[in-house]
Amino acid sequence: VSAASDIASEVLGRRIGLRIDGSSRLRLERAVEECARDAGCAPDAWASSLDSDGAALQALIDRVTVQETAFFRHPEHFRILAEHLHALAPPSAGIIWSAGCADGQEAWSIAMVLEEHGLLGWTVVATDVSRSAIARAKAGVYSERQIGGLDDARRARFLRLEGEHWAIVHPLRRRVRFLVHNLAGGHPPLEAGDCPVVFCRNVLIYLRSEDARRLLVNLHLRMPRDGLLAIGAAEALSPADADFVPERRDGAFVYRPRSDVAGIPAPPAPAVRRRREPAPPADRGPSAAEHAALGEKHAAAGDDAAAIESFRRAASLAPGDPVHHLRLALTLDRTGDSGAPRAFRAARAALAAGGRARIEQELGWSVVEVERLLESRLGRR
Ligand SMILES: C[S@@+](CC[C@H](N)C(=O)[O-])C[C@H]1O[C@@H](n2cnc3c(N)ncnc32)[C@H](O)[C@@H]1O
Repeated sequence: VSAASDIASEVLGRRIGLRIDGSSRLRLERAVEECARDAGCAPDAWASSLDSDGAALQALIDRVTVQETAFFRHPEHFRILAEHLHALAPPSAGIIWSAGCADGQEAWSIAMVLEEHGLLGWTVVATDVSRSAIARAKAGVYSERQIGGLDDARRARFLRLEGEHWAIVHPLRRRVRFLVHNLAGGHPPLEAGDCPVVFCRNVLIYLRSEDARRLLVNLHLRMPRDGLLAIGAAEALSPADADFVPERRDGAFVYRPRSDVAGIPAPPAPAVRRRREPAPPADRGPSAAEHAALGEKHAAAGDDAAAIESFRRAASLAPGDPVHHLRLALTLDRTGDSGAPRAFRAARAALAAGGRARIEQELGWSVVEVERLLESRLGRR
């Protein structure tokens, strides 16, 4: 299987930009084994057919890509989206591209926001390289567990119970078109027009750096001056990705095409949500959580140096908490500071020592995403 996986890894990289390393290598080996068994072939022979057999390649892509997603995942992005669309000069209309939509929850969530805000002219184009993901997304039928991110009001308005599953209602279906599309293939799909808003979240971390970079360049070429790009919370663009500028809003980063910065009025700074914590005894100074909250506040105000200082203090007070190390590392990384790898290493050590639940509770990121991020910054262990 190892030789077959080498072949498959090379084909996946070349054809869809997938980066195979670390944990994804094991996933690939399993997928190759299963695909070869289904096809009744030896793994090596099966892998050698990948380049010429589209169905075999698609079967592998369906198995090896990570389809993890949820309704209103990282809810801040959806609030920012509504605010952004309202702020555009009327009459406004266009297409929002959900790029790498997996099973479709992200695209349907965007469509719900459009309905809720009466943004009548907007529609969604949702794409993914996995055919089976697109088929599931288009079907729009979800289990009780999969609709976890939806409150009662949204369930009542946008879903209909069919047996044991929930189906997207028809008025919402008019808002979204689903297409198979390869983000490493060169250009955005024609159907996405000039991409005024792109959600490409939790996809870049799975791509080889050169493919991720090319995708960003292509996006930038097509985006209008008032465009908006949302990427995953664990995917901070590095300073090398000079086409987009981060903008912190409502506790999350979104990205704007760089050439537009001067012309775009800055949105009002959002209030920073602080977690309620008992005040520490006066003689002990601020707690790690308070330093972290202060760091968030500095970051929201664009003061990276002060944010770094606060995150550093939080990390030194609670060295076992990967959240503080990660916040520090991401801020250092974004500002091009050479201390970023050290902070990423500390985050990795804290994660290995048992901080997984904190990552999910505090940041809303899956541990798989954070591990991919750490691998992309530090390489394999
Ligand atoms: C983790 S899911 C992200 C889903 C959703 N965007 C979210 O954030 O919840 C990653 C998706 O990227 C897709 N993907 C990976 N490589 C791709 C490529 N080259 N072109 C298009 N989609 C790709 C995978 O098939 C998978 O569905």
